[in-house]
Amino acid sequence: MNLAELNKVARAMVTPGKGILAADESSGTIKKRFDAISVECTEDNRRDYRELMFRTHEAMSKYISGVILYDETIWQKAKDGTPLVDVIKKAGSIPGIKVDEGTKPLPNCPGELITAGLDKLADRLVKYYEQGARFAKWRAVIDIAPGIPSYAAIHTNAHALARYAALCQAAQIVPIVEPEVLMDGDHDIDRCYEVTEFVLKETFQQLYYQKVSLEGIVLKPNMAVSGKKSAKKASVQEVAEKTVKLLKNCVPGAVPGIAFLSGGQSDEEATAHLDAMNKIGGLPWNLTFSYGRALQAAPQKAWSGKGENVASAQRAFLHRAHMNGLASMGQWKSDLEKKAA
Ligand code: 13P
Repeated sequence: MNLAELNKVARAMVTPGKGILAADESSGTIKKRFDAISVECTEDNRRDYRELMFRTHEAMSKYISGVILYDETIWQKAKDGTPLVDVIKKAGSIPGIKVDEGTKPLPNCPGELITAGLDKLADRLVKYYEQGARFAKWRAVIDIAPGIPSYAAIHTNAHALARYAALCQAAQIVPIVEPEVLMDGDHDIDRCYEVTEFVLKETFQQLYYQKVSLEGIVLKPNMAVSGKKSAKKASVQEVAEKTVKLLKNCVPGAVPGIAFLSGGQSDEEATAHLDAMNKIGGLPWNLTFSYGRALQAAPQKAWSGKGENVASAQRAFLHRAHMNGLASMGQWKSDLEKKAA
């Protein structure tokens, strides 16, 4: 393992002004997204849609440090025959790959999940590296509901994340470590804080046991937010302050950067939260985005599967990438959204 090289890639992924495009929706998830805009979920449509983002040169070269791809996409060619990986690299962005194989029910833990994909991961990583991937992603899912999460679910998922991270580093690939505490419930922000704190503490303990070098990872956590069905919605400032306090208590300063997931927040909320945290400042790590929905909802809607909408979809993607790029430096203003509308 060349740690200096891993650290260089990790730092590039969280360069101030830039963040990560999570375009790694599994076949089932991208079908859901396409259903919502009445687009048939064919291989060509998935390629055309993702290609339109990767070819938004201004967005990719200025604001997108890396792209998380799904297995299908990393092997795909653009319409003109250029490998999509080369389109991404030409724009100055780093290709990455989702390597987990989704979730399965965790035995003896009703309602809880464990992420699958460790078997044969070492062999798959070698092939992904050859194909150009320099970082990977593995998502663990922790749900909050009455009686859960259990320690068994937190521990087992943290252990799997650490095993994955160690395998990635051995293959010279930077692991994005993503323990996602879902925001689906009716819990308040303090319950989210408490569960996320436990999850992050356990995750870093397991990373330590597996001898993972923290200088060569990127953490992808949820923010401390109220559940979607909570009666009391925390303000932008409260989310920012509590998330910063939470991270300072859990994440060692050796970690180069933290790239948040959007997790179901609206586009503008995800930007405002990131911006407010960076306005607090004085943090040991760079804070940026690794958004899926909060970067893609607008371009998806603008595109709606029609060739004649590609330019307006690209403008929508550029706008969200730009806004989040500013937020990664604490330089976003809400008027910038109105001006674009
Ligand atoms: P969202 O930003 O839509 O949560 O997706 C990010 C991601 O990669 C989840 O694993």
